[in-house]
Amino acid sequence: MLVHMLSARAYPGASVQGVGRVHVLLAVCTGAALFGRHIAATGGSERPAGPSDRRVRATYGSIRPPAAYAASVEIGDGTRCVHGGHTADGAPGSPLHPGPVLSTTFHLDDALPDYFYGRPGNPTWTALEEAIGTLDGGECVSFASGMAAIGAVLRLTARSGGAIVLPSDGYYVTRALAHAELDPLGVEVREVPTPGPWPDRVLDGATLLLVETPSNPGLDVCDIRTAAAAAHAAGALLAVDNTTATPLGQRPLALGADLTVASDTKALAGHGDVLLGHVSTADPALAQRLREARTRGGAVPGPMEAWLAHRGLGTLDLRLSRQAVNAEALARALRGHPAAGDVRWLGLPDDPSHPVAAAQMRRWNGVLRFTLPSSEAVGRFLAASRYTASATSFGGLRSTADRRERWGDAVSPGLVRFSAGCEDTGDLVDDVLRALDRV
Ligand SMILES: Cc1ncc(COP(=O)(O)O)c(C=O)c1O
Repeated sequence: MLVHMLSARAYPGASVQGVGRVHVLLAVCTGAALFGRHIAATGGSERPAGPSDRRVRATYGSIRPPAAYAASVEIGDGTRCVHGGHTADGAPGSPLHPGPVLSTTFHLDDALPDYFYGRPGNPTWTALEEAIGTLDGGECVSFASGMAAIGAVLRLTARSGGAIVLPSDGYYVTRALAHAELDPLGVEVREVPTPGPWPDRVLDGATLLLVETPSNPGLDVCDIRTAAAAAHAAGALLAVDNTTATPLGQRPLALGADLTVASDTKALAGHGDVLLGHVSTADPALAQRLREARTRGGAVPGPMEAWLAHRGLGTLDLRLSRQAVNAEALARALRGHPAAGDVRWLGLPDDPSHPVAAAQMRRWNGVLRFTLPSSEAVGRFLAASRYTASATSFGGLRSTADRRERWGDAVSPGLVRFSAGCEDTGDLVDDVLRALDRV
Protein backbone atom coordinates (compact mmCIF):
# COMPACT_ATOMS: atom_id res chain seq x y z
CA MET A 1 0.00 0.00 0.00
CA LEU A 2 1.30 3.44 -0.93
CA VAL A 3 0.71 4.71 2.58
CA HIS A 4 3.16 2.20 3.94
CA MET A 5 5.63 2.55 1.13
CA LEU A 6 5.99 6.25 1.79
CA SER A 7 5.96 6.37 5.55
CA ALA A 8 9.19 6.18 7.54
CA ARG A 9 11.08 2.89 7.35
CA ALA A 10 14.24 1.64 8.92
CA TYR A 11 17.31 1.83 6.68
CA PRO A 12 20.07 0.02 8.51
CA GLY A 13 23.70 0.78 7.94
CA ALA A 14 23.38 3.92 5.85
CA SER A 15 26.34 6.25 6.11
CA VAL A 16 25.51 9.66 4.79
CA GLN A 17 29.09 10.67 4.26
CA GLY A 18 29.97 7.38 2.61
CA VAL A 19 27.48 7.00 -0.20
CA GLY A 20 28.98 9.47 -2.60
CA ARG A 21 31.70 7.85 -4.73
CA VAL A 22 29.66 5.90 -7.25
CA HIS A 23 27.35 8.87 -7.62
CA VAL A 24 30.32 11.16 -8.08
CA LEU A 25 31.54 8.96 -10.87
CA LEU A 26 28.16 8.83 -12.58
CA ALA A 27 27.52 12.51 -12.19
CA VAL A 28 30.91 13.56 -13.44
CA CYS A 29 30.66 11.28 -16.46
CA THR A 30 27.22 12.67 -17.23
CA GLY A 31 28.33 16.19 -16.56
CA ALA A 32 31.39 15.79 -18.76
CA ALA A 33 29.18 14.53 -21.55
CA LEU A 34 27.08 17.62 -21.08
CA PHE A 35 29.91 20.11 -21.33
CA GLY A 36 29.55 22.03 -24.52
CA ARG A 37 25.80 21.57 -24.74
CA HIS A 38 24.23 24.75 -25.87
CA ILE A 39 20.89 26.18 -26.42
CA ALA A 40 19.70 27.20 -29.80
CA ALA A 41 16.32 27.81 -28.42
CA THR A 42 14.10 28.70 -31.31
CA GLY A 43 14.50 25.54 -33.29
CA GLY A 44 15.01 23.37 -30.27
CA SER A 45 18.05 21.61 -31.67
CA GLU A 46 21.69 21.85 -30.79
CA ARG A 47 23.71 23.67 -33.37
CA PRO A 48 27.38 23.40 -34.07
CA ALA A 49 29.41 26.36 -33.01
CA GLY A 50 29.44 29.14 -35.56
CA PRO A 51 32.42 31.36 -36.25
CA SER A 52 31.09 34.23 -34.17
CA ASP A 53 31.04 32.01 -31.05
CA ARG A 54 34.76 32.29 -30.99
CA ARG A 55 34.53 35.89 -29.89
CA VAL A 56 32.32 35.02 -26.93
CA ARG A 57 34.62 32.17 -26.01
CA ALA A 58 37.66 34.31 -26.30
CA THR A 59 36.33 36.29 -23.36
CA TYR A 60 34.61 33.48 -21.56
CA GLY A 61 36.75 30.47 -22.30
CA SER A 62 36.33 27.26 -24.21
CA ILE A 63 33.17 25.37 -23.39
CA ARG A 64 35.01 22.04 -23.67
CA PRO A 65 36.51 20.71 -20.45
CA PRO A 66 40.24 20.19 -20.32
CA ALA A 67 40.83 16.48 -20.96
CA ALA A 68 42.37 15.98 -17.53
CA TYR A 69 39.26 17.32 -15.86
CA ALA A 70 36.85 15.26 -17.93
CA ALA A 71 38.79 12.09 -17.24
CA SER A 72 39.08 12.74 -13.54
CA VAL A 73 36.13 10.95 -12.03
CA GLU A 74 37.27 10.45 -8.46
CA ILE A 75 37.01 14.04 -7.36
CA GLY A 76 35.31 15.34 -4.28
CA ASP A 77 32.53 17.83 -3.72
CA GLY A 78 34.89 20.70 -2.96
CA THR A 79 36.87 20.26 -6.17
CA ARG A 80 33.70 19.92 -8.20
CA CYS A 81 32.27 23.10 -6.68
CA VAL A 82 35.47 25.04 -7.29
CA HIS A 83 36.08 23.86 -10.85
CA GLY A 84 32.61 23.07 -12.22
CA GLY A 85 31.71 25.17 -15.24
CA HIS A 86 35.13 26.85 -15.32
CA THR A 87 36.30 25.38 -18.56
CA ALA A 88 38.58 28.06 -19.95
CA ASP A 89 41.46 26.56 -21.89
CA GLY A 90 44.07 28.62 -20.06
CA ALA A 91 45.28 30.53 -23.10
CA PRO A 92 47.89 33.07 -21.99
CA GLY A 93 46.25 36.38 -21.31
CA SER A 94 42.73 34.97 -20.95
CA PRO A 95 41.07 35.69 -17.62
CA LEU A 96 41.16 33.07 -14.90
CA HIS A 97 37.97 34.59 -13.52
CA PRO A 98 35.94 35.83 -16.49
CA GLY A 99 33.21 38.31 -15.74
CA PRO A 100 29.55 38.03 -16.70
CA VAL A 101 28.59 38.45 -20.34
CA LEU A 102 26.00 41.20 -20.02
CA SER A 103 25.33 41.71 -23.70
CA THR A 104 21.83 40.84 -24.85
CA THR A 105 22.87 41.01 -28.48
CA PHE A 106 25.54 39.05 -30.32
CA HIS A 107 27.24 39.35 -33.69
CA LEU A 108 25.51 37.20 -36.26
CA ASP A 109 26.70 35.44 -39.36
CA ASP A 110 24.88 33.43 -42.00
CA ALA A 111 24.77 30.45 -39.69
CA LEU A 112 22.98 31.01 -36.39
CA PRO A 113 25.52 30.78 -33.56
CA ASP A 114 24.92 29.27 -30.13
CA TYR A 115 24.36 32.71 -28.65
CA PHE A 116 22.35 35.13 -30.70
CA TYR A 117 20.00 36.91 -28.26
CA GLY A 118 19.89 37.21 -24.50
CA ARG A 119 16.59 35.41 -23.85
CA PRO A 120 17.36 32.04 -25.51
CA GLY A 121 20.89 31.75 -24.17
CA ASN A 122 23.86 33.41 -22.56
CA PRO A 123 27.36 32.02 -21.96
CA THR A 124 27.32 33.02 -18.31
CA TRP A 125 24.25 30.83 -17.72
CA THR A 126 25.85 28.01 -19.63
CA ALA A 127 28.83 28.03 -17.29
CA LEU A 128 26.56 27.92 -14.23
CA GLU A 129 24.37 25.23 -15.78
CA GLU A 130 27.39 23.07 -16.49
CA ALA A 131 28.51 23.41 -12.88
CA ILE A 132 25.08 22.60 -11.39
CA GLY A 133 24.33 19.89 -13.96
CA THR A 134 27.53 18.11 -13.04
CA LEU A 135 26.52 18.11 -9.39
CA ASP A 136 22.91 17.09 -10.07
CA GLY A 137 23.90 14.37 -12.53
CA GLY A 138 21.79 15.77 -15.38
CA GLU A 139 21.24 18.69 -17.71
CA CYS A 140 20.54 21.88 -15.81
CA VAL A 141 18.21 24.60 -17.04
CA SER A 142 18.47 27.73 -14.92
CA PHE A 143 15.59 30.10 -14.28
CA ALA A 144 15.07 33.57 -12.85
CA SER A 145 14.01 32.17 -9.47
CA GLY A 146 13.03 28.96 -7.75
CA MET A 147 9.38 29.73 -8.42
CA ALA A 148 10.08 30.35 -12.10
CA ALA A 149 11.66 26.88 -12.22
CA ILE A 150 8.78 25.24 -10.35
CA GLY A 151 6.23 27.13 -12.45
CA ALA A 152 7.86 25.84 -15.64
CA VAL A 153 7.67 22.25 -14.37
CA LEU A 154 4.03 22.60 -13.35
CA ARG A 155 2.98 24.19 -16.64
CA LEU A 156 4.89 21.67 -18.69
CA THR A 157 3.44 18.61 -16.97
CA ALA A 158 -0.13 19.60 -16.04
CA ARG A 159 -2.96 18.35 -18.24
CA SER A 160 -6.57 19.49 -18.19
CA GLY A 161 -8.65 16.68 -16.69
CA GLY A 162 -5.55 15.23 -15.02
CA ALA A 163 -4.06 15.77 -11.58
CA ILE A 164 -0.85 16.91 -10.01
CA VAL A 165 0.16 15.96 -6.47
CA LEU A 166 2.04 18.40 -4.23
CA PRO A 167 3.20 18.48 -0.62
CA SER A 168 0.68 19.99 1.80
CA ASP A 169 3.53 20.99 4.10
CA GLY A 170 6.15 22.26 1.64
CA TYR A 171 6.96 25.75 0.44
CA TYR A 172 3.58 27.50 0.43
CA VAL A 173 3.99 29.44 -2.82
CA THR A 174 4.20 26.20 -4.82
CA ARG A 175 0.69 25.31 -3.62
CA ALA A 176 -0.51 28.87 -4.18
CA LEU A 177 0.81 28.86 -7.76
CA ALA A 178 -0.77 25.50 -8.57
CA HIS A 179 -4.17 26.47 -7.18
CA ALA A 180 -4.18 29.92 -8.77
CA GLU A 181 -3.06 28.82 -12.22
CA LEU A 182 -3.96 25.14 -12.60
CA ASP A 183 -7.33 24.86 -10.81
CA PRO A 184 -9.00 27.17 -13.38
CA LEU A 185 -7.61 25.04 -16.22
CA GLY A 186 -9.30 21.90 -14.92
CA VAL A 187 -6.21 20.37 -13.35
CA GLU A 188 -6.93 18.73 -10.02
CA VAL A 189 -4.33 19.82 -7.46
CA ARG A 190 -4.02 17.23 -4.69
CA GLU A 191 -1.98 17.70 -1.53
CA VAL A 192 -0.26 15.06 0.58
CA PRO A 193 1.85 15.36 3.74
CA THR A 194 5.53 14.79 3.08
CA PRO A 195 6.12 12.01 5.64
CA GLY A 196 2.82 10.26 4.79
CA PRO A 197 0.49 8.57 5.22
CA TRP A 198 -0.85 9.23 1.73
CA PRO A 199 -4.35 8.22 0.66
CA ASP A 200 -4.59 5.16 -1.55
CA ARG A 201 -4.91 5.96 -5.25
CA VAL A 202 -3.82 9.58 -4.70
CA LEU A 203 -1.69 9.28 -7.84
CA ASP A 204 -4.50 8.00 -10.06
CA GLY A 205 -4.67 10.20 -13.14
CA ALA A 206 -1.68 12.25 -12.01
CA THR A 207 0.86 13.57 -14.51
CA LEU A 208 3.23 14.94 -11.87
CA LEU A 209 4.17 14.11 -8.29
CA LEU A 210 6.24 16.89 -6.77
CA VAL A 211 7.80 16.17 -3.39
CA GLU A 212 9.88 18.46 -1.23
CA THR A 213 12.29 16.48 0.86
CA PRO A 214 13.44 17.72 3.32
CA SER A 215 10.32 19.88 3.51
CA ASN A 216 10.36 23.55 4.30
CA PRO A 217 9.73 24.41 7.11
CA GLY A 218 8.90 21.10 8.78
CA LEU A 219 12.10 19.19 7.86
CA ASP A 220 10.08 16.06 7.21
CA VAL A 221 11.22 13.69 4.50
CA CYS A 222 9.88 11.04 2.16
CA ASP A 223 11.63 8.17 0.46
CA ILE A 224 12.52 9.38 -3.05
CA ARG A 225 13.08 5.89 -4.48
CA THR A 226 9.64 4.79 -3.31
CA ALA A 227 8.00 7.99 -4.52
CA ALA A 228 9.64 7.50 -7.94
CA ALA A 229 8.36 3.92 -8.19
CA ALA A 230 4.85 5.01 -7.19
CA ALA A 231 4.82 7.95 -9.60
CA HIS A 232 6.08 5.86 -12.49
CA ALA A 233 3.60 3.08 -11.80
CA ALA A 234 0.86 5.70 -12.08
CA GLY A 235 2.32 7.14 -15.29
CA ALA A 236 3.44 10.36 -13.60
CA LEU A 237 6.78 12.11 -13.49
CA LEU A 238 8.49 12.66 -10.17
CA ALA A 239 10.00 16.07 -9.43
CA VAL A 240 11.90 16.70 -6.20
CA ASP A 241 12.32 20.16 -4.73
CA ASN A 242 15.92 19.84 -3.56
CA THR A 243 16.33 23.38 -2.24
CA THR A 244 17.07 22.51 1.37
CA ALA A 245 19.40 19.61 0.62
CA THR A 246 21.30 21.23 -2.31
CA PRO A 247 22.88 19.03 -5.02
CA LEU A 248 25.69 18.20 -2.60
CA GLY A 249 23.28 16.96 0.03
CA GLN A 250 21.06 14.85 -2.19
CA ARG A 251 20.93 13.68 -5.81
CA PRO A 252 17.27 13.03 -6.61
CA LEU A 253 18.00 12.01 -10.22
CA ALA A 254 20.23 9.17 -9.03
CA LEU A 255 17.40 8.06 -6.72
CA GLY A 256 14.90 7.76 -9.57
CA ALA A 257 13.41 11.24 -9.87
CA ASP A 258 12.78 12.62 -13.35
CA LEU A 259 13.37 16.21 -12.37
CA THR A 260 15.14 17.99 -9.57
CA VAL A 261 14.13 21.60 -8.97
CA ALA A 262 15.58 24.13 -6.57
CA SER A 263 15.65 27.67 -5.40
CA ASP A 264 19.31 28.57 -5.83
CA THR A 265 18.49 31.77 -3.99
CA LYS A 266 19.23 29.75 -0.85
CA ALA A 267 22.38 27.78 -0.05
CA LEU A 268 23.56 27.19 -3.60
CA ALA A 269 24.23 30.87 -4.31
CA GLY A 270 24.54 31.31 -0.59
CA HIS A 271 25.11 35.00 -0.01
CA GLY A 272 21.59 36.39 0.05
CA ASP A 273 22.16 38.61 -2.97
CA VAL A 274 20.78 36.55 -5.86
CA LEU A 275 17.35 35.30 -6.83
CA LEU A 276 17.73 32.21 -9.03
CA GLY A 277 16.44 28.69 -9.59
CA HIS A 278 17.00 25.66 -11.76
CA VAL A 279 15.60 22.37 -12.99
CA SER A 280 17.84 19.42 -13.85
CA THR A 281 16.90 16.24 -15.64
CA ALA A 282 18.76 13.30 -17.14
CA ASP A 283 16.24 13.22 -20.01
CA PRO A 284 17.63 15.38 -22.85
CA ALA A 285 14.19 15.73 -24.48
CA LEU A 286 12.69 17.01 -21.24
CA ALA A 287 15.61 19.40 -20.79
CA GLN A 288 15.03 20.72 -24.26
CA ARG A 289 11.31 21.26 -23.57
CA LEU A 290 12.25 23.16 -20.41
CA ARG A 291 14.68 25.38 -22.31
CA GLU A 292 12.06 26.10 -24.93
CA ALA A 293 9.51 26.88 -22.21
CA ARG A 294 12.01 29.24 -20.60
CA THR A 295 12.66 30.99 -23.89
CA ARG A 296 8.94 31.39 -24.55
CA GLY A 297 8.07 32.41 -21.00
CA GLY A 298 11.05 34.69 -20.55
CA ALA A 299 11.73 33.80 -16.88
CA VAL A 300 15.43 33.79 -17.66
CA PRO A 301 18.27 34.36 -15.20
CA GLY A 302 20.07 37.66 -15.38
CA PRO A 303 23.72 37.18 -16.38
CA MET A 304 24.89 39.04 -13.29
CA GLU A 305 22.79 36.76 -11.08
CA ALA A 306 24.10 33.67 -12.85
CA TRP A 307 27.66 34.88 -12.40
CA LEU A 308 27.15 35.63 -8.71
CA ALA A 309 25.54 32.24 -8.17
CA HIS A 310 28.43 30.52 -9.94
CA ARG A 311 30.86 32.38 -7.74
CA GLY A 312 28.85 31.43 -4.65
CA LEU A 313 28.68 27.80 -5.73
CA GLY A 314 32.47 27.67 -5.55
CA THR A 315 32.29 27.69 -1.76
CA LEU A 316 29.13 25.61 -1.31
CA ASP A 317 31.07 22.63 0.01
CA LEU A 318 32.89 24.78 2.58
CA ARG A 319 29.79 26.66 3.60
CA LEU A 320 27.66 23.55 4.01
CA SER A 321 30.31 21.95 6.19
CA ARG A 322 30.44 24.89 8.59
CA GLN A 323 26.67 25.32 8.54
CA ALA A 324 26.12 21.66 9.37
CA VAL A 325 28.61 21.80 12.24
CA ASN A 326 26.86 24.90 13.56
CA ALA A 327 23.40 23.38 13.15
CA GLU A 328 24.37 20.23 15.00
CA ALA A 329 25.94 22.19 17.85
CA LEU A 330 22.87 24.39 18.06
CA ALA A 331 20.44 21.49 17.93
CA ARG A 332 22.25 19.70 20.75
CA ALA A 333 22.48 22.87 22.84
CA LEU A 334 18.83 23.78 22.21
CA ARG A 335 17.69 20.39 23.40
CA GLY A 336 19.13 21.25 26.77
CA HIS A 337 17.37 24.61 27.00
CA PRO A 338 13.97 24.72 28.72
CA ALA A 339 12.51 27.36 26.36
CA ALA A 340 13.08 25.35 23.17
CA GLY A 341 10.84 22.41 22.35
CA ASP A 342 10.54 19.98 19.46
CA VAL A 343 14.11 20.57 18.24
CA ARG A 344 14.58 18.99 14.80
CA TRP A 345 17.74 18.60 12.75
CA LEU A 346 18.00 15.76 10.27
CA GLY A 347 21.46 14.70 11.38
CA LEU A 348 20.41 13.89 14.93
CA PRO A 349 20.19 10.08 15.05
CA ASP A 350 16.90 10.22 16.96
CA ASP A 351 15.26 12.78 14.67
CA PRO A 352 12.08 11.21 13.22
CA SER A 353 13.31 12.00 9.69
CA HIS A 354 16.81 10.63 10.24
CA PRO A 355 16.41 7.00 9.04
CA VAL A 356 14.92 7.90 5.65
CA ALA A 357 17.15 10.96 5.26
CA ALA A 358 20.29 8.96 6.03
CA ALA A 359 19.38 6.41 3.37
CA GLN A 360 19.14 8.97 0.60
CA MET A 361 21.10 12.06 1.58
CA ARG A 362 24.84 12.47 1.18
CA ARG A 363 25.43 15.06 3.89
CA TRP A 364 23.59 17.35 6.28
CA ASN A 365 23.07 21.08 6.15
CA GLY A 366 22.48 24.08 8.35
CA VAL A 367 18.69 24.15 8.59
CA LEU A 368 17.02 23.23 11.88
CA ARG A 369 13.79 24.07 13.58
CA PHE A 370 12.51 24.42 17.12
CA THR A 371 9.47 25.75 18.89
CA LEU A 372 9.32 28.52 21.47
CA PRO A 373 6.29 29.00 23.74
CA SER A 374 4.68 31.76 21.63
CA SER A 375 5.11 34.12 18.73
CA GLU A 376 6.02 36.87 21.23
CA ALA A 377 8.73 34.63 22.65
CA VAL A 378 10.19 34.31 19.14
CA GLY A 379 10.17 38.10 18.88
CA ARG A 380 12.05 38.42 22.18
CA PHE A 381 14.54 35.78 21.08
CA LEU A 382 15.24 37.55 17.80
CA ALA A 383 15.57 40.93 19.48
CA ALA A 384 18.07 39.50 21.97
CA SER A 385 20.23 37.59 19.51
CA ARG A 386 23.22 39.42 18.15
CA TYR A 387 24.00 37.11 15.25
CA THR A 388 20.57 35.85 14.22
CA ALA A 389 18.79 38.05 11.72
CA SER A 390 15.03 37.85 11.44
CA ALA A 391 14.71 37.01 7.76
CA THR A 392 12.72 34.72 5.51
CA SER A 393 15.34 32.90 3.58
CA PHE A 394 17.90 30.28 4.50
CA GLY A 395 21.20 28.77 3.51
CA GLY A 396 23.13 32.06 3.58
CA LEU A 397 26.41 33.06 5.20
CA ARG A 398 24.66 34.77 8.09
CA SER A 399 22.41 32.95 10.52
CA THR A 400 18.75 33.76 10.05
CA ALA A 401 15.52 32.74 11.73
CA ASP A 402 12.00 32.83 10.38
CA ARG A 403 8.67 32.73 12.20
CA ARG A 404 6.85 30.54 9.70
CA GLU A 405 3.36 31.14 11.02
CA ARG A 406 3.41 34.65 9.60
CA TRP A 407 3.47 33.18 6.05
CA GLY A 408 0.38 31.07 6.65
CA ASP A 409 2.13 27.73 7.17
CA ALA A 410 0.02 25.42 9.32
CA VAL A 411 2.54 25.43 12.16
CA SER A 412 2.56 26.47 15.79
CA PRO A 413 3.01 30.25 16.36
CA GLY A 414 6.31 29.64 18.13
CA LEU A 415 7.90 27.57 15.36
CA VAL A 416 11.28 28.91 14.31
CA ARG A 417 13.04 27.75 11.15
CA PHE A 418 16.66 28.48 11.90
CA SER A 419 19.32 28.66 9.23
CA ALA A 420 22.75 28.28 10.77
CA GLY A 421 25.27 30.48 9.01
CA CYS A 422 29.04 30.34 8.83
CA GLU A 423 29.79 32.13 12.07
CA ASP A 424 32.21 30.50 14.51
CA THR A 425 30.38 27.70 16.24
CA GLY A 426 31.13 28.85 19.78
CA ASP A 427 30.07 32.43 19.07
CA LEU A 428 26.80 31.33 17.52
CA VAL A 429 25.84 28.81 20.20
CA ASP A 430 26.71 31.24 23.02
CA ASP A 431 24.69 33.98 21.37
CA VAL A 432 21.63 31.81 20.74
CA LEU A 433 21.63 30.38 24.26
CA ARG A 434 22.01 33.84 25.75
CA ALA A 435 19.11 35.11 23.65
CA LEU A 436 16.97 32.16 24.67
CA ASP A 437 17.57 32.97 28.31
CA ARG A 438 15.71 36.23 27.69
CA VAL A 439 12.66 34.57 26.19
C1 LIG B 1 11.70 24.81 -0.79
C2 LIG B 1 11.57 26.04 -1.64
N1 LIG B 1 11.27 25.90 -2.94
C3 LIG B 1 11.13 26.97 -3.75
C4 LIG B 1 11.27 28.25 -3.25
C5 LIG B 1 11.09 29.43 -4.17
O1 LIG B 1 12.32 29.97 -4.50
P1 LIG B 1 12.54 31.49 -4.98
O2 LIG B 1 12.27 32.37 -3.79
O3 LIG B 1 13.96 31.50 -5.44
O4 LIG B 1 11.58 31.74 -6.08
C6 LIG B 1 11.59 28.44 -1.92
C7 LIG B 1 11.75 29.80 -1.37
O5 LIG B 1 11.84 30.00 -0.18
C8 LIG B 1 11.74 27.31 -1.08
O6 LIG B 1 12.02 27.42 0.21
